[in-house]
Amino acid sequence: MARALDPALCDALAERMRFYRDLGLTDFYRRAAEAPGSIESCAESHPAPASVSAGETQSAAAPSQGSFFGEEPAPSARRPSSVFSTALPVIPAAERVAALESIRDDIGDCTRCALHKGRNRIVFADGSATARLMFVGEGPGADEDAQGLPFVGRAGQLLNNMIAAMGLKREEVYIANVVKCRPPNNRTPEPAEANTCSPFLFRQIDVVRPEVLVALGATAATYLLGQRQPLAALRGRVHSFRGAKLIVTYHPAFLLRDPRQKKEAWADLQIAMRELGLKPAARA
Ligand code: URA
Repeated sequence: MARALDPALCDALAERMRFYRDLGLTDFYRRAAEAPGSIESCAESHPAPASVSAGETQSAAAPSQGSFFGEEPAPSARRPSSVFSTALPVIPAAERVAALESIRDDIGDCTRCALHKGRNRIVFADGSATARLMFVGEGPGADEDAQGLPFVGRAGQLLNNMIAAMGLKREEVYIANVVKCRPPNNRTPEPAEANTCSPFLFRQIDVVRPEVLVALGATAATYLLGQRQPLAALRGRVHSFRGAKLIVTYHPAFLLRDPRQKKEAWADLQIAMRELGLKPAARA
């Protein structure tokens, strides 16, 4: 006889299935050994993957900087990743936690930019030091500032769902931001703030050495690629940064405001999955 499901579990499942339906997702991506029960009715159609042209975009013609930067992007952000990454030693997996701790120690009780004045907690990162996939957001919001962890508010819930839809667990990926302190009223970080803080992010990337980086939103894309371009011009392609394949997608906070774009975001995540060799599981 069928056992009644726990109501809280039912609610969580229903929310997850609504999310899958929004994505247009029909297949489930997960490890066979961990495959839970069947959730086959969650979506009707499967979007075609976006077309991908591999290539280094750092060398693209200089974009208009407009008022976004207010200054040139930091030289480290503009250095061709192929040159930079081959010069760096790969840190053995067993030493990466300590290497990340050392970066955190270097940040210390940071006062390098004005953002320190309004912060409660420095939000360093969350996740695995040996992750194959890394997400980069813009900067902490109120929840993150209170907890000291990235993406733990509403946008974080959506990011968790996106990660789960890829068949991964949050603790298997690495999550960090361009700036580690909350900008006042969640405004976009100023160029001086982002350029001051992003070298620590680059060091984190160099330690974790993810195969795939996903830039969540325009700020992450801008400071990783060292150029400002509309998101539409950056999505749907595989860029390269510090030896990782870089894919640009919408910020989860934007997707909360405009859920119709979730299908587009899912197409971007499918590019990431393809680059990681994550295969669709057999239909449940
Ligand atoms: N938005 C971000 O860009 N980063 C966070 O950590 C949370 C919300």
